[in-house]
Amino acid sequence: MKKIIILPGDGIGPEIIRQADKVFNYIAEEEKIPLTTEKAYIGGAAIDKYGVPFPKKTEEKCLSSDAVLLGAVGGPKWDDIDPEIRPEKGLLAIRKALGTYANLRPAKMRDSLVHHSPIKEEIVSGTDIMIVRELTGGIYFGKREKGEREGVRFAYDVEHYDEGEISRIAHIAFKQARMRKRHLTLVDKANVLDSSKLWREVVKEIAEEYEDVKLDFMYVDNASMQLIRRPRDFDVVLTNNIFGDILSDEMSQITGSIGLLSSISAGEGPWLYEPIHGSAPDIAGKNLANPLGTILSVAELVRNSLGEEGIALKIERAVEETLAEGYRTADLTKGEYVGCEEMGDLVVEKLRKLKGL
Ligand code: IPM
Ligand code: MG
Repeated sequence: MKKIIILPGDGIGPEIIRQADKVFNYIAEEEKIPLTTEKAYIGGAAIDKYGVPFPKKTEEKCLSSDAVLLGAVGGPKWDDIDPEIRPEKGLLAIRKALGTYANLRPAKMRDSLVHHSPIKEEIVSGTDIMIVRELTGGIYFGKREKGEREGVRFAYDVEHYDEGEISRIAHIAFKQARMRKRHLTLVDKANVLDSSKLWREVVKEIAEEYEDVKLDFMYVDNASMQLIRRPRDFDVVLTNNIFGDILSDEMSQITGSIGLLSSISAGEGPWLYEPIHGSAPDIAGKNLANPLGTILSVAELVRNSLGEEGIALKIERAVEETLAEGYRTADLTKGEYVGCEEMGDLVVEKLRKLKGL
């Protein structure tokens, strides 16, 4: 029996997670996959209940699970709270606790949504990029301080990587490239930063084990331009924690909707799956959110942590077909739209139709 921990979090988190629940119920009851799900608290919801964004109880449940699905964390309610217990700290803490050092963020331009991209069709059509972001190191977790010395305020955050941290994620990126178009771009700032120089050195050494993969390098400022100018020329993009954070938001716009993108955080323990969007407090509780990024994250969980490739493909197909039939949540159309709950129901209805296949 596989055990999945579900962390709804804040804002639209609970409503998008309700749609994931529907998919899990379908998988357990109709596809007869032995699994149990259990909810736990994270982010602002955990602060309200336990006073901390990542309670010990949640950590223990996650560590003894087979996989974790997360909705979203954060919101204005916790803006003025002690910075050490902000909801976002819960996200960083769970990544660290599970050791999920490799964050895979696929960004694929779906034909059915090509007109939704702000980029011209002839440039964006066919785009299919996998961002491989380092997730448990670098400036997010380096030494930091904010203080005052002789009447002058100062602050610093240290970008620190060792070769082990770089090499383990580089292997993941090369393996991804092997399953795709065999092209890997390391994005860094090696013209300025020593940490980036180390990334280049280590990645070049590892490249010798993957001679079938074409490796190139790009400075992050240039990459942010080229991703918009010629997104089709990229396949796998490997980068550090902070650049990956920024570039994956850029990619979410190029492909049309942040609401559709899933992510996988892989590491030594149970893997963590989450849509890449935030908690969208402005639309929370209004049945307006797009649950597809979450449902596609469930597909990745089913694929990677339950080993059920066939069912993962079926979930992805159900999403594709629902979109192809013209159903849209409010973020994807100016015209008629379906609610978050209805979109979840439509996908499950499609799954039932695909069941025998
Ligand atoms: C993300 C988010 C987080 C990050 C924030 C909420 C801490 O932006 O997952 O991309 O910066 O990693
Ligand atoms: Mg981000």
